[in-house]
Amino acid sequence: MTDQPPVASRESRAQVRQMLLIGAVASALGIALALLIDWFPVPASAQAGPIDTLWDVLLIASVPVFVLVETIVLYCAIKFRMRPGEELKDGPPIHGNTKLEIIWTAIPAILLVGLCTYAYVVLTDIEEAPATEPLNVRVVGEQFTWNFFYQGENGDEISSPQLYLPVDRPVYFTVQSKDVIHDFWVPNLRMKIDAVPGIDTHLRVTPDRIGEYPVVCAELCGLGHSTMRQSAHVVPRDEFDAKLAELARGPARGGGEGGEEETDGRTLFTDAAQPQTCDSCHTLADAGATGTTGPNLDDTLTDLSEEQIRQSIVDPDAEVTEGFAPGLMPRYGDSLSEEQVDALVDYLMEVKGG
Ligand code: CUA
Repeated sequence: MTDQPPVASRESRAQVRQMLLIGAVASALGIALALLIDWFPVPASAQAGPIDTLWDVLLIASVPVFVLVETIVLYCAIKFRMRPGEELKDGPPIHGNTKLEIIWTAIPAILLVGLCTYAYVVLTDIEEAPATEPLNVRVVGEQFTWNFFYQGENGDEISSPQLYLPVDRPVYFTVQSKDVIHDFWVPNLRMKIDAVPGIDTHLRVTPDRIGEYPVVCAELCGLGHSTMRQSAHVVPRDEFDAKLAELARGPARGGGEGGEEETDGRTLFTDAAQPQTCDSCHTLADAGATGTTGPNLDDTLTDLSEEQIRQSIVDPDAEVTEGFAPGLMPRYGDSLSEEQVDALVDYLMEVKGG
């Protein structure tokens, strides 16, 4: 019953020094490796800088903890393993080491409090309301698509199947869900929040880099979860205003409201069908499409009648191709006009014919 190992104290001190040395070298290598890895895509918001720095600090703090613990475990397993003939030997009668226990409780506690404080400061800092009036965007998730709503001039909401954001203007997102929990995430903007049915969640972000970035769902929400991907377009302000005006003038769905509507089957297939273009999920050689989420149309089209093709677009769950789950494909009868569906059917019949 003593605080110190009773025997071979000089030898054990040397062993501790050896362990710490190995641990220090391995930590340095581990930190270098961790910082070398490109963890995140190109940063595209004012919030990205502080978040990436926080991430690096977390790596620098946590890699040595992991490496040191592993070093001690491996070192002891190798150095003090039982050798032949030692089966009946017992270890020295040590009760514990109070000093050591205080140290290994205190250091992690201090580390945790420090890192939590730092993370809290960063989070409150980047979520602080900006001095300028933010752009309000309502994001609505549903199985399996996102819809974005902007405030129009006359109080109407303008809806868009893709996210458009003006560069360098703070955005205040209100995130909602129509069915189950989704998670609104644009990795390049770094910020991410759950879309929970029945409540509004919020997110502030200031995009500061022009480009096109993926919008993804980061919460397993059903069979089509992995297809719940759209685009965030960060554009110059004048381009954003023009886009909003265009969306206000002619919504994607038909109805003769004066907007120009895409009625070329092939263009619809690859560029214009909403909520997602057909080529994002289907393969069709004629359209240069290589999607693999849904049936390969080069194979399945030949067996389908015109009526079946129409039904597959308008109400896909009425008859699902073997091997594919129902509920994966949106009902395009809800989002495309009759003329657009006709155009798609004509185009697919044409491809099928020859
Ligand atoms: Cu929505 Cu996953």
